Amino acid sequence: MPHLPAILEEIAAEMAAAPERGRPADYIPELAAVDPNQFAISVALADGQQFSAGDAATKFSIQSVSKVFTLAIALGRLGDQLWTRVGREPSGLAFNSILQLEHEQGRPRNPFINAGAIVVTDAILAGHAPRELLGELLRFIRTAAEDDDIHINESVARSESETGHRNMALAHFMRAHGNLLNPPEMSLGAYFHQCAVEMTTAQLARAGRFLVNAPGLPHLVSATRVRRINALMMTCGHYDGSGDFAYRVGLPGKSGVGGGILVIAPGRASIAVWSPGLNAQGNSKLGTEAVELLARRTGWSVFG
Ligand code: DON
Repeated sequence: MPHLPAILEEIAAEMAAAPERGRPADYIPELAAVDPNQFAISVALADGQQFSAGDAATKFSIQSVSKVFTLAIALGRLGDQLWTRVGREPSGLAFNSILQLEHEQGRPRNPFINAGAIVVTDAILAGHAPRELLGELLRFIRTAAEDDDIHINESVARSESETGHRNMALAHFMRAHGNLLNPPEMSLGAYFHQCAVEMTTAQLARAGRFLVNAPGLPHLVSATRVRRINALMMTCGHYDGSGDFAYRVGLPGKSGVGGGILVIAPGRASIAVWSPGLNAQGNSKLGTEAVELLARRTGWSVFG
């Protein structure tokens, strides 16, 4: 395999020259203002080495990537009981779709679409104040990243609280079906804040090491649960773009509308990419292209 730092520098240079960068999310006003010309990639290897290229020290809003961390906490806390409230099948629909939810009596298809992630957050909230859950989430992420400089951006959370009417509709609909145990405002408050966690690409790559299943890396959940979270990332992590991501990259990944993607090469590495411009499915356009190149140049696809 060619030298990893050289591969990353090459990819960052190719992405800097890309004519088509996608468009940053504009339904959350704070995200619309982010400069689309930024790009970063970082790889944290199982042996402890880390290599980065581009704007890897710039913080961005992790948004839906946070759903991986809340799912890990929920599985640790509730185990298989979680699956009585949320499914494990790809939805084939947009991340914020409300369509299936009525057909399926308020039980979301999977924990990564918005409805499913709101249920996961509601499940771990379990009557506690959102502040306590957010403290636990930050502790989990900081421990995983071995870095305490990871915080929630209050103005991003507020921006989404003021405009998140689709999420409010999803939450109230699930509450009507008895699949939300806390008042919707509480679960949504926690959900909007978890999405507003800010990290650098380098921090996110380090935080993802708990999903690599390799000796010497942080073990925050059991090896069995790591395998299951990776399976869900592969099948559902990119919403209605999950099949395309598996086809092009061949690795489990979880995207966010802030333009970040966490990708796991099982047994080998945790990879984070970030570029704010999105494709039609709401996933980072250049981020996807970059990990496609990385998987090809390293031979890391799980499909050989
Ligand atoms: O709920 C929302 O709409 C956002 N806070 C997160 C959505 C998201 O990141 C979807 N991923 N691509």
